[in-house]
Amino acid sequence: MKITIISGSHREPSQSRKVANHIEKELQQHHGVDTWLFALANNPLPLWDQAVWGDSQEWTERLAPIRQQLASSDGFVIISPEWHGQVPSGLKNFFLLFNRFELGHKPALIVTVSAGGGGAYPVAELRMSSYKNNRICYLPEHVIVRTVEQVLNDDDNDNNPDADGYIRKRIRWALGILTGYAEAMQPMREQVQVHHDDFANGM
Ligand SMILES: Cc1cc2nc3c(=O)[nH]c(=O)nc-3n(C[C@H](O)[C@H](O)[C@H](O)COP(=O)(O)O)c2cc1C
Repeated sequence: MKITIISGSHREPSQSRKVANHIEKELQQHHGVDTWLFALANNPLPLWDQAVWGDSQEWTERLAPIRQQLASSDGFVIISPEWHGQVPSGLKNFFLLFNRFELGHKPALIVTVSAGGGGAYPVAELRMSSYKNNRICYLPEHVIVRTVEQVLNDDDNDNNPDADGYIRKRIRWALGILTGYAEAMQPMREQVQVHHDDFANGM
């Protein structure tokens, strides 16, 4: 099984990347799955333009290795910081660039990140407006990492023990749900006609 982790912050370094690193380690060491971590730090992908839908060799070459990684994944962890109450634009751009053949009918765990008590808005935004055409399947469970600077640090002295213990336990449990869905949904994609030429886009 392979799970891809998308770290949605444009910043380098970022707290989202710290959370992504923790999740990658958990998936590998506790859940025994292969991972690929794709960080949107420093905006590795240009903004979508019309050439994406044309015959652009530049775009084809740029996207091909990422498409291959996504298409060979059984599930995803989508990590989004809350920026001005929103999902960062680079992560929204990611959802313009990749489609149902890479993401469709595969489970995804939303993990949002806030330096304070935020993090609910990007959960709502992802659930409302990022899945329609690519058909990514968000789990009913999600994780909000609040006061992120006080948790998941390598040095225990930097962690708030209660908050850190709670979020580590919660992440481990949520990743178990994700891997369970990933296993269950893999045969479903083979048994059911999930892609239909007449219905390329969701309604
Ligand atoms: C442009 C920008 C806007 C932000 N807006 C919010 C916000 O609306 N709510 C919030 O809880 N935190 C906000 N933050 C703080 C983030 O929660 C904080 O940077 C946290 O570390 C997650 O972002 P990161 O992964 O980029 O580090 C904002 C940060 C930036 C850089």
